[in-house]
Amino acid sequence: MNLSHSIQFFQRYLRNPRSVGAIAPSSSGLSLALCEQYRRCNRAVRVLEVGAGTGSVTRQLGRLLGPDDKLDICEINPDFGDILERDVLSHRNYREPVASGRVRLLRQPVQEIAPTEAYDYIVSGLPFTAFELKDVAEIFEIIQRYLKPGGVFSYFEYVGLRKTSAALSWGKKRSRVRSVSSFLNKAIRAHEFDRTTVLTNFPPAHARHLRFQDAASFQAA
Ligand SMILES: C[S@@+](CC[C@H](N)C(=O)[O-])C[C@H]1O[C@@H](n2cnc3c(N)ncnc32)[C@H](O)[C@@H]1O
Repeated sequence: MNLSHSIQFFQRYLRNPRSVGAIAPSSSGLSLALCEQYRRCNRAVRVLEVGAGTGSVTRQLGRLLGPDDKLDICEINPDFGDILERDVLSHRNYREPVASGRVRLLRQPVQEIAPTEAYDYIVSGLPFTAFELKDVAEIFEIIQRYLKPGGVFSYFEYVGLRKTSAALSWGKKRSRVRSVSSFLNKAIRAHEFDRTTVLTNFPPAHARHLRFQDAASFQAA
């Protein structure tokens, strides 16, 4: 893990905890687990990474990128956008794909990217547990719309975070965490087909893989 990126990540977390949602970037073990479904694929595909941060997962994606694959990298935070451009997309794995336009950095919220073609894989670092329920529901609906039929949505969450946050909070925060948790449990029960628990991450995390078979409805209750 790059120490300077970890420090910059933590500084951005202190400034904007709800949007960054983690105190440290994902480890290489967690990044690999998030890319596992894409790694198994042996045809040209379109991939979207959402919430790239300082680029832990982006680096893994760069190693896996096939000669005809296309990758959009979406990041809302302008400082992280600068780090991605300077320290990650400048790597030799990314030089040709960026120059030819197969890899694009989208410096905007995922809610606004409006892709013209659907994706085969969407890999997300978004901190759903820190979001309002209406934002989680909106993002799940968008992700389902952006995916091709049979496409895979991979995201992570820290082991036990939802339960611990609900137990240690009260009032509005507790009811927010509980409603987000119940939304996520429902989505996991209906759509998760694979999961890896990664202990070599701080904190340990589940990498979850979901497939939306039919037109799922993701309304905030
Ligand atoms: C928990 S960090 C994950 C960073 C990185 N993927 C990793 O695993 O180390 C969440 C990231 O999502 C970004 N983010 C939050 N809301 C977003 C949104 N609506 N659209 C795009 N990115 C967003 C944050 O700026 C932050 O970089």
